[in-house]
This record gives sequence, C-alpha cells and structure tokens, in this order.
Amino acid sequence: MGQILDGKALAQTLCEDIKKRADALKAQGVAPKLAVILVGEDPASQLYVRSKGKRAAELGILAEQYTYTATLSEAELLDRIRQLNRDDTVHGILVQLPLPGHLDPDQVIACIDPHKDVDGFHPQNAGALLSGQPGFVPCTPKGVLALVKSTGLPIAGKRCVVVGRSNIVGKPVALLMLKEDATVTICHSRTEGLGAITREADILIAAVGKAGLITADMIKEGAIVIDVGQVRIQGKWQGDVDFGPALEKAAYITPVPGGVGPMTIAMLMDNTVESAQRALQARSQHGSN
Ligand code: GUN
Repeated sequence: MGQILDGKALAQTLCEDIKKRADALKAQGVAPKLAVILVGEDPASQLYVRSKGKRAAELGILAEQYTYTATLSEAELLDRIRQLNRDDTVHGILVQLPLPGHLDPDQVIACIDPHKDVDGFHPQNAGALLSGQPGFVPCTPKGVLALVKSTGLPIAGKRCVVVGRSNIVGKPVALLMLKEDATVTICHSRTEGLGAITREADILIAAVGKAGLITADMIKEGAIVIDVGQVRIQGKWQGDVDFGPALEKAAYITPVPGGVGPMTIAMLMDNTVESAQRALQARSQHGSN
C-alpha cells in the first residue's frame, strides 16, 4: 500500500515562504501584482481563475482580473496585453487557456513580455528551459518536480516516463526531469505498447486528461505516480490514473483533486513573487549606475 502525496499540504507549506517573500518586497515598496485574463465562459477556466485569485489574496499578492466575453477580438486582447506589458506595477501576466477558437494562443502568448510571462509559455522561456538558461518555468511541471522531490527518493539515474506531450505539461516536465538526471521517455496518443513502457517507470507522470487511462497493471511496484490529469465526469474530478488499485502498487501517488492542482497555483504565486524580486533588483541596479 502506497502513501498519498498531499499536494494541498505541500502547497500550503510553500505558500508560507512565498508570503514572507511577498511581505519583504512590500516592505521595500514593491507590491507583487499578477494580471489574469479570462476570455469566455468556460466553467473549468472560471474555477481555476477564481482559485488563483483566492490564493493570491491569501498571500497578499495583488491579482487584477480582466474578464471578457468570447466575442473579444484578437486585436483587443493583444492591445490589453501590450498595455499590461508597459505597466511597471504589473509583474505577472497570465492568459487562461484554452482560448475561444478564433483567438490564436501562439500569437497571444508571444505578445506577453517574457519577463512577465509567469506561466513560462513564451517561446523565450520555453527555449530557456530547453537550453538550461534562467527564465520562468511553467507552473504545473514545477509543482510536479516539487512533489517528486518531497518523497525524498532519488531522481538521478531513475527511469521517468511522461505520458502526454503538451507544451504546458508533458514537454516541460520531461525537460525538468532530464535536468535532474532521470532517464526520460515521453509517451503520447500514438505510442505503441504504452503499458510495457509505463511498467518500467520508477517515476510515472500522467498528463493526458483521459480518466482512468493508467490502470494498476501499467504501474511498476514501488513507483512514484504523479497524476496531472483532471477531468470532470458527472460532477466529480477524475485523474488519468485509476487511483484505488494504483495506490496498492505505487510507493507514492497524488490524488485528484488535492495533488498537482494546488501545487500549480502555489508555483504561479512563486513565479509572480520571483518576477517582482527581479524587477526590484533591476531597479536598484539602474539606481546605482
Ligand atoms: N489552462 C490549464 N492550465 C493552465 C495553466 O497552467 N496556465 C494557463 N494560463 N492556462 C491553463
């Protein structure tokens, strides 16, 4: 029987430190501020945005929400982003995805100032992660790594299998695990013999969004299992992993909800405070020159 990795509790611990950093910034005259843009009425996105605002308020981070109907034009959205880019009081800009079909997410993300891209989705930040340069690391992958590290088990040299290849989770989490010297395999919807590959994983990260895709027979005895999947079925959140039977096989496993979700939000706050810290540093360097 494995142990449940409590993301809610770990997020709470991390947020205590983030709040201290936010307080220290405010004492120096910088109030960390996040701008959150939501376009359309997708209920899941509305819920995520509400959760982000609530956590920001708890930590004393200003969160400005810009809510638009799905009829918003791309030009109007890009104008708003450019205005936020120019606003020195704003340290983080987040555009909630997915966007309505007529808005091109690539164009929208590319418009965000990479220094305020606390989601870490801008090509400059994605490239920085790929090449080992400093930049913003996407929040969910950063949360997944913290959860894996919280087990205290080694990562270097271990087999890590990532199921899912999205730009938001699959690809960046694979890069983070590679940076930790894991031996990483990325699987996806066209992978043949998925179970044979996942059964080799000491660390299994499922990020597909297909309820129950990973069954207990696909899990190695004693593995760390991180479930990033989150779909709502008949009013209940479900992950990619068939949780009950998987708990019997794994050493550690994250629940849905209460696993990765709270960690994503904590890391968003971490990135926002980091951005404000960098802005303060840049200001004091300019001041001393
Ligand atoms: N939609 C689902 N996850 C995310 C995320 O991490 N950031 C944004 N902006 N949108 C999302």
